[in-house]
Amino acid sequence: LRHFLTLEGLPRTVLVRLLDLAQNFDDRRGDVSLRSTLVGRTVCTLFFEPSTRTRSSFQIAAQRLGADVLTFDASTSSTSKGETARDTMRTLEAMGVHGFVVRHKEDGAVAALAGEARPGTALINAGDGRIAHPTQGLLDMLTIRQAKGADFSQLKVAIVGDVKHSRVARTDLHALRTLGAGEIRVCGPQSLLPTDATLDGCVVTEDFDAALEGVDVLMMLRLQRERMEEGLVGSLDAYHRDYGLTATRLRRAAPEAVVLHPGPMNRGVEIDDDVADGPQSLILRQVANGVAARMAVLEVLLGA
Ligand code: CP
Repeated sequence: LRHFLTLEGLPRTVLVRLLDLAQNFDDRRGDVSLRSTLVGRTVCTLFFEPSTRTRSSFQIAAQRLGADVLTFDASTSSTSKGETARDTMRTLEAMGVHGFVVRHKEDGAVAALAGEARPGTALINAGDGRIAHPTQGLLDMLTIRQAKGADFSQLKVAIVGDVKHSRVARTDLHALRTLGAGEIRVCGPQSLLPTDATLDGCVVTEDFDAALEGVDVLMMLRLQRERMEEGLVGSLDAYHRDYGLTATRLRRAAPEAVVLHPGPMNRGVEIDDDVADGPQSLILRQVANGVAARMAVLEVLLGA
């Protein structure tokens, strides 16, 4: 791998290898001998959109592998004077940055930037528009694998909420198909479901209770109002009534069902406190796995 831009089309062997490596890093938390892997390499987190989890966990992951880490803050940079993302990247490359972790609000922006990078520079997509968030997909699959085992063929997985604007949903759908998930259900109001080929092969429903029936893994999504040109159809109260995950509703799922959410959560909208903080929630495990998953990607792209 030169860049890590999408999980779409990534061979199963490569995905499984990354998951195995991430699991190994998770098992070796606290092992200081890992700190030599990326010594002499410089990683820059180049974020043109806000982030808490992705940026912080990439910084921790790179530091745990011994890399030097440069944090680029678009709001206080010369991009506010009109400098392009390309010129920003080329400027930082000239200072000796070897790898860029890039988030951008435009669909396809990170892949376009990768096409402009010097030979030897690696780009990692930390989320572009509504298209891809491959390290989120990796950490989500790692979290499911830890909870349910490596054989996904018997799993019923439901992705619920604002799928239309979600790069996480698109990425998880690619990964779940690659790993052979038994049944993928996608649920949300018609206005928040994609109408293109994104949902091919999925069981699609607007009925949340039906989507929950006997499901093993439940991925709840935030309403991404920053990407809704048309605005939210209906009220937040109505959305919570129809698509909010409550403890009562969760009883429709399989008894050992697990709940995931990529964050940030809007508590009381798509998920209630007692579910988010309850025994079936793996949300903080996802966050922890973000460090291991990102260590795996950094090592594969920038390691010796
Ligand atoms: N899941 C995720 O991408 O969160 P952040 O926006 O906080 O990075």
